[in-house]
Amino acid sequence: MTTKTCIIVALAMLGCSSHLYATPNTATLTHPEAGNWQNHGRTYSEQRFSPLEQINRETVAELGLQWSLATGTTRGLEATPLVSDGVMYLSTTWSRVLAVDAVTGKLLWKFDPQVPGAIGRNACCDVVNRGVALWEDKVFVGTLDGRLIALDQKTGRIVWSVQTTDPDKPYTITGAPRVVRGKVIVGNGGAEYGVRGYFGAFDAATGAALWRFYTVPGSAHGPVEHAELDIARRTWPTNARWETGLGGTVWDAFAYDPELNLLYVGVGNSSLYNRKLRSPGGGDNLFLASILAVNPDNGRLVWHYQTTPAEAWDYTATQHMILAELNIFGEPRKVLMQAPKNGFFYVLDRKTGELISAENYVPVNWASHVDLETGRPVETGRGDWSEEMSFVSPGPFGGHNWHPMAFSPKTGFVYIPTIHMIYPYHPDPDFKYNPSTWNTGEDWDALGASTNGIQLNFCSPTRLTAWHPIEQKQMWQIPFDSMVNAGVLATAGDLIFQGTSDGQLVAYADDSGERLWSQNVGVGIMAPPITFAVDGVQYVSVLAGLGGAQGAIANPLKQANYGQLLTFTLGGKAQPPTAQSIEREVDVPQTALSAEAIRAGGKLFHIHCARCHGLAAAGSGVIPDLRTSSADVHSNWRAIVLDGILEGRGMASFADVLTAEESQQVHAYVIKQAVNSTSWGTQILQKAADAVCIPADWLAF
Ligand code: HEC
Repeated sequence: MTTKTCIIVALAMLGCSSHLYATPNTATLTHPEAGNWQNHGRTYSEQRFSPLEQINRETVAELGLQWSLATGTTRGLEATPLVSDGVMYLSTTWSRVLAVDAVTGKLLWKFDPQVPGAIGRNACCDVVNRGVALWEDKVFVGTLDGRLIALDQKTGRIVWSVQTTDPDKPYTITGAPRVVRGKVIVGNGGAEYGVRGYFGAFDAATGAALWRFYTVPGSAHGPVEHAELDIARRTWPTNARWETGLGGTVWDAFAYDPELNLLYVGVGNSSLYNRKLRSPGGGDNLFLASILAVNPDNGRLVWHYQTTPAEAWDYTATQHMILAELNIFGEPRKVLMQAPKNGFFYVLDRKTGELISAENYVPVNWASHVDLETGRPVETGRGDWSEEMSFVSPGPFGGHNWHPMAFSPKTGFVYIPTIHMIYPYHPDPDFKYNPSTWNTGEDWDALGASTNGIQLNFCSPTRLTAWHPIEQKQMWQIPFDSMVNAGVLATAGDLIFQGTSDGQLVAYADDSGERLWSQNVGVGIMAPPITFAVDGVQYVSVLAGLGGAQGAIANPLKQANYGQLLTFTLGGKAQPPTAQSIEREVDVPQTALSAEAIRAGGKLFHIHCARCHGLAAAGSGVIPDLRTSSADVHSNWRAIVLDGILEGRGMASFADVLTAEESQQVHAYVIKQAVNSTSWGTQILQKAADAVCIPADWLAF
């Protein structure tokens, strides 16, 4: 029912009033009813702050599970569930969508876009999806194979579906679309494989394509698709590696200011991280790692701010952006706040793009500071790995990744799920661009050999950091002993909610970080919690299920990863799922191959397999740790790796890039790694990818 007809009906029968504000539109996404969560970050300002306060510091001890729903998944769950008028809409792995009764947990409908399993090979960071969008009577989802689909909110049936990408290129969609003034905004990912980034708008009613904004130029000469690319082109040399697409993908964050009618867009990293290979003539390489403000009516650029000129470390600016009013030196300012991967927390004037302040929120050694006059980071030279290995902080996972942060207007703090990492970037002297695989210019074979898959990180590699955006300083911090962090929720009940990778949902006091409540749910959590109310009762919901880039390769799974959707309320008495152990029947066969063949296998493994099965074959277990495979798997190696018998489950054939002999070399390398790790003892085998703790002063910053 549209708002208009509802108002007319409401005059006749009062029962309609609860539907009056529910139909998602500009007004409800800007100023939602307290009980609803209809937009990815709750409102267009993406603060992830709820005014609900029934669950507060006094009552939180009574919080308990109300219901849980098994999602039938074993890989990463990153979505923010949306709640509109008592119905919850969310996405799971492989871009599947569920609608659930938010009070009872009863499944209302499900939609499977049938993404082909082979597409899993194009996903840098697991087959995740971060959520759906709502507008009027529809639900919108972007799929891993690049479609944008509109579903009927009541039935889950397809209303329209459009292909937003070239299906012959390794583009993927994992981010949540947003809807602004009747236009569905969607971007895509794939920069590590070599694609050209863009985002665009589609008519919410019909799916008609309205405009597209490319974030990098497509060539050195000739006509450009839109005028902004003339600005961008001046920052690229003519000998840039155009064939790689150059990257700049828009794979996650958007925010919108309806008053200014500005859509904010976070732009990602380069294709070919190594800047000397990518852009031998130098240049800032716009609009990589930038925040763009565009007019959503026509897709024209109003301002841009580049966080990391000539980015070379996977320093995306696709991280969550929060819009707020801050009182800065006595002056109320409309700001945009972002903690991009590069380690600096930015406060920008969102009307003009002017830099107000920037300070590092994690240890940073690639730049000493951001110059407030020029708005540019001042590089130290310690981040230069274009010719030799260099230890750089933050690493490619960033100081903060996709895990949404939250802002409480009550405390004035931003709560950031931070990553504290030091990472050796190795240039690949033999790099060759291969459009069917990974293309960063990094030598992961050298990286794997130098670490044997063991992560070198600062102690407590992830933390929940409360940050004062005006004073630009840390207020409090909670350390975690895990490589996987989780999204955050702030509420007017003076609470911060966050999950942990060992399966707890935790409530902290927003001013001090004091831990006030937690419950073990048996499955690791990285998705952000939300809160909503139905009939005067407040609930908190979260998805549990590990994965994503860090979860798939850097954090060994300690319990089985059967996904769950969980909803809590005061007095909830449901039994949480209990943790299930992961037991594998391990078999380590022998190999007759020469040391040279094994070395060749290691090189190939790190080009084609390590991004999912882990550096040095030390996988996390979300995607199998090949050192712990069974006799059956080893005897079917060729059928799995070349014939693609597990393709439907996301393990595609690699016959297009590996010969039979090369596949055997990769097998021999995996066997060698398994033998090495079993000789350390089974306990170490389980924990081989654990972090080795480096004191923060190891690098003099
Ligand atoms: C894009 C991610 C991805 C990449 C890249 C990838 N795999 Fe896989 N692989 C998977 C997934 C997912 C599974 C689990 C499939 C299932 O559930 O049965 C898997 C399973 C396997 C298995 C079965 C393991 C077991 O114990 O069950 C083997 C063997 C394997 N992969 C080998 C390789 C090799 C060799 C390469 C590189 C040439 C490779 N994979 C690259 C995702 C990937």
